[in-house]
Amino acid sequence: MRRQFLLVVGFLAICSYLALAQQNAAPAASGQQTEAPAASDQQTEAPAASNAQCIDCHSKSRPQIVSEWKQSKHSQVNVGCIDCHGAGHASASDVAKVKIARSEICAHCHQAQVDQDRRGKHSIALAAMRTMPNAHWRPARSLQPEPAGRGQAVCVDCHRIGSSAVKEEVTFERFGGIEGGALERGGGACGSCHSRHTFSVEEARQPQACQYCHSGPDHDQWGMYASSRHGIQFDLKQRRLLPADAAVPTCQTCHMPNGDHEVRTSWGYRGISRPLPSDKEWAADRTEIMKAVNIIGSNGEENPLAVTMKAAEVMRFTQEDWQRDRDKMVKVCVQCHSESYVKQQLQAGDDMVRLADHFLAEAIRVVSGLYKDRLLPPPQPERNYPWLTRFDPPPTLIEQMLETMYLEHRTSAFQGKFHGSLNYALADGRGKMRQDLDAITDLAKELRRSHAATGTHPPVKTASPAKPKAK
Ligand code: HEC
Ligand code: HEC
Ligand code: HEC
Ligand code: HEC
Ligand code: HEC
Ligand code: HEC
Ligand code: HEC
Ligand code: HEC
Repeated sequence: MRRQFLLVVGFLAICSYLALAQQNAAPAASGQQTEAPAASDQQTEAPAASNAQCIDCHSKSRPQIVSEWKQSKHSQVNVGCIDCHGAGHASASDVAKVKIARSEICAHCHQAQVDQDRRGKHSIALAAMRTMPNAHWRPARSLQPEPAGRGQAVCVDCHRIGSSAVKEEVTFERFGGIEGGALERGGGACGSCHSRHTFSVEEARQPQACQYCHSGPDHDQWGMYASSRHGIQFDLKQRRLLPADAAVPTCQTCHMPNGDHEVRTSWGYRGISRPLPSDKEWAADRTEIMKAVNIIGSNGEENPLAVTMKAAEVMRFTQEDWQRDRDKMVKVCVQCHSESYVKQQLQAGDDMVRLADHFLAEAIRVVSGLYKDRLLPPPQPERNYPWLTRFDPPPTLIEQMLETMYLEHRTSAFQGKFHGSLNYALADGRGKMRQDLDAITDLAKELRRSHAATGTHPPVKTASPAKPKAK
């Protein structure tokens, strides 16, 4: 464990040194050069092909790629196929020599955006995915259909936004005794919001550019936005029923202000951050939750998972980091609302985090009590706690309800509030959490009653297989 920790610390030190060195070497903030670097930059051998050849042959085999490129800004400024794919391949027999255009190639000309992206959370989406203890069997690079995950979704379809050919690896001990894995900090899959080969900045500015990934039962920010005053007004604006200059925020207005590719929020990681609130009751609730998601152990010590989270910067670990992003957000809102109104709205979001934490912590206490009294077998024999980051459907109904409460209803509650959606915040969020807590308490009472009556371990209601929620 200690060795691993030192490795991580060493890794971080090297990273920050590299980051500094890179920053110093990087061109001025605008970061864009108008000339393409010489082909030799990318290809050591003599070029085998010219852009004209690529276009000629691919106009026949892949006409849509060539026409998309022709519509792009790149074609207007003479950034051609070989700038991104190299000139090593020129026929059907040498396709293996082609370069896959990942972010380090975009960085030749767009260093500023690549650097911003690397500071934000999208670049670590693969690492974040792998903090799930059982994600190891889902090969991150494979885009093949894999054994079904939650709701049949394939994790990497969305999490590859953090993929890159460049890998900085750090080994860590997976929680739960699973074998060591690799953490990557990718350069980001740049085509995720401005799709290839048009690479259109207009496409990236629309909230729909975020919809593909930011939807689904446990992170439906699209649905929250679409049902907020902001989203409704923007929809009308896109349909030209409101004037084109109506000041309505998109996801990008709030999360990528001024085109800044560093995407990061205060709470993050589903509203769980490490520094405990000063309020005693809230701190106690939060401690319960952190035990249930395995960030801290039964006695309050940090688990290997916490070390991973720190190394990958998946979670917030200091109050200053939290405050920095909150200040950034306030600056965005005050473009259109008064500061006191904004602070009040954001405070209401924080209050919802607190309330949702309380409901969830109460439910965790109920289920942990069943493990302690051996009325249910604990998921990990050495600790009487739920295992909410396991991601496999848990075996019993009561445990499955707890997981849905955490992943879906708690997310709807606080994120719905922050995004101004009454439906998510109140009906799908707070309301359902209240129902979950009541139902979990009733089920536990039933278990205890039948145990007291028979003196034996009661039969446990098993859960039906998880059904993907259609939304
Ligand atoms: C004589 C025809 C021909 C020429 C010239 C040609 N290609 Fe290809 N290229 C192919 C064929 C055939 C394939 C494999 C089938 C496919 O993906 O379309 C291919 C595949 C590719 C791929 C996809 C590789 C993959 O792994 O999916 C890229 C990218 C590519 N070519 C870029 C280029 C570039 C850049 C040039 C110019 C330097 C070029 N091609 C010149 C025929 C050609
Ligand atoms: C600005 C950079 C850029 C330029 C210019 C560019 N490409 Fe691509 N190309 C990409 C990226 C990014 C991908 C996706 C790589 C990945 O993640 O697999 C891609 C993928 C491809 C693929 C394989 C995937 C597919 O969609 O079939 C082909 C073939 C291809 N490009 C051909 C071309 C041709 C031909 C040209 C010139 C007309 C060209 N590209 C110009 C960046 C570029
Ligand atoms: C050889 C240099 C070069 C490379 C490599 C390159 N670009 Fe560009 N890109 C440019 C230039 C030049 C412009 C035009 C800049 C301007 O007008 O300010 C541009 C413009 C863009 C735009 C804005 C398009 C618009 O609609 O205004 C996007 C988005 C973009 N590039 C993304 C990428 C991505 C993603 C990659 C990597 C897959 C990439 N570029 C690779 C040079 C490059
Ligand atoms: C989360 C979505 C998203 C991802 C991922 C993304 N971009 Fe962008 N990109 C945007 C948005 C939104 C804009 C438009 C910003 C604005 O309004 O000026 C943009 C604009 C750009 C521009 C044009 C800047 C200008 O001033 O004209 C470039 C170049 C660019 N991105 C490159 C990249 C590169 C390189 C990557 C990968 C490291 C990347 N982007 C990844 C959303 C994204
Ligand atoms: C009016 C501004 C605004 C708009 C528009 C907006 N958001 Fe947010 N978003 C917020 C605020 C505020 C938070 C809470 C930030 C915090 O942690 O304090 C947030 C949080 C988030 C989070 C992090 C949740 C977590 O785990 O803590 C994600 C992801 C997100 N938004 C995505 C989106 C997407 C995608 C869209 C568009 C469909 C969008 N947002 C539209 C303001 C906005
Ligand atoms: C290809 C999928 C994909 C697209 C497209 C995408 N995102 Fe994300 N986004 C993710 C994933 C995966 C995460 C979780 C990353 C992590 O935990 O490191 C994430 C995380 C976030 C966060 C949370 C930051 C935090 O602090 O936890 C915000 C905010 C966000 N994205 C905003 C956006 C916006 C705005 C857009 C559109 C401009 C967008 N995303 C487009 C996949 C995507
Ligand atoms: C439909 C796209 C999508 C799929 C599929 C998906 N995720 Fe995510 N994931 C996201 C988005 C978007 C976020 C950010 C949500 C937020 O901040 O609320 C996220 C967040 C996470 C987080 C929390 C990280 C953080 O910093 O907030 C973990 C862990 C995670 N996903 C693991 C997985 C695993 C494991 C799978 C496969 C079983 C998976 N995801 C499948 C889009 C997806
Ligand atoms: C680009 C301008 C713009 C930005 C930035 C913006 N808003 Fe708004 N907001 C609007 C508009 C327009 C409306 C709809 C009209 C109204 O109710 O004032 C609105 C409505 C609201 C409402 C609903 C008011 C009601 O009476 O129902 C809330 C709450 C809100 N915004 C909060 C925020 C918060 C918090 C932020 C920052 C995270 C933010 N807004 C950022 C323009 C903006």
